[in-house]
Amino acid sequence: MPKIIVAIDGYSSCGKSTTAKLVAQQLNYPYIDTGSMYRAVTLYFLQNHVTLSNPKEVEMALSQIHISFRMHVGTGKNDTYLNGLNVEEEIRKMYVSDKVSEVSAIPAVRHALVAQQQRMGKTRGIVMDGRDIGTVVFPEAELKIFMTADPYIRAQRRQLELMEKGEMIGIEKIFENLKHRDLIDTTRAESPLKQAADAVYIDNSLMTLDEQVDMVVRLADEQIGLN
Ligand code: DC
Repeated sequence: MPKIIVAIDGYSSCGKSTTAKLVAQQLNYPYIDTGSMYRAVTLYFLQNHVTLSNPKEVEMALSQIHISFRMHVGTGKNDTYLNGLNVEEEIRKMYVSDKVSEVSAIPAVRHALVAQQQRMGKTRGIVMDGRDIGTVVFPEAELKIFMTADPYIRAQRRQLELMEKGEMIGIEKIFENLKHRDLIDTTRAESPLKQAADAVYIDNSLMTLDEQVDMVVRLADEQIGLN
């Protein structure tokens, strides 16, 4: 059976990752959450006090970073590893979210991570989500999805997610963080978040998770049939 690339881009906390993970399970493809790679780099930069405005320090730090993923057998949960350490929980915390858009706007960071993402998708048969997958990482992807939801609904979903992990944060703070990240993500000079011309637009504000997953799997099956 031909293997395709499914690229899912969209705003922060619009349910991309949850959808992408379930789509990957149904297609029996690996899933890569590229946001977690930008988060892991941000964590390393914070831990090592890297000056973001110093290109030499940034390059040096990037050369010390190794990011990998390991799938939990049984749960299908994909954990992010930074230099061999499981950082899955740490990278989701608010202090990392507060800094990640700034770090991901640095061209050297993007070049390093895009190159790694392209290597991971070389053999095709992959679901990848992020901000620039359909526009920069895999402009040739057979299926591109551009996902969004109402900003307040996104903030509510994010609050619930953080609460489940024991982090109690007010909705207004989360809403402000999302709006701030949306602004940086869509206006940065280097590969800003934008819908690829051939992407399918999905606003999931009023959709259930099952509906979203079914829709993307159906579109993927169509493409697999065509290729
Ligand atoms: O999807 P997320 O919220 O975990 O992503 C974290 C940040 O990483 C987000 O603010 C934008 C950035 N990002 C990016 O610039 N390009 C990607 N392909 C994925 C994420």
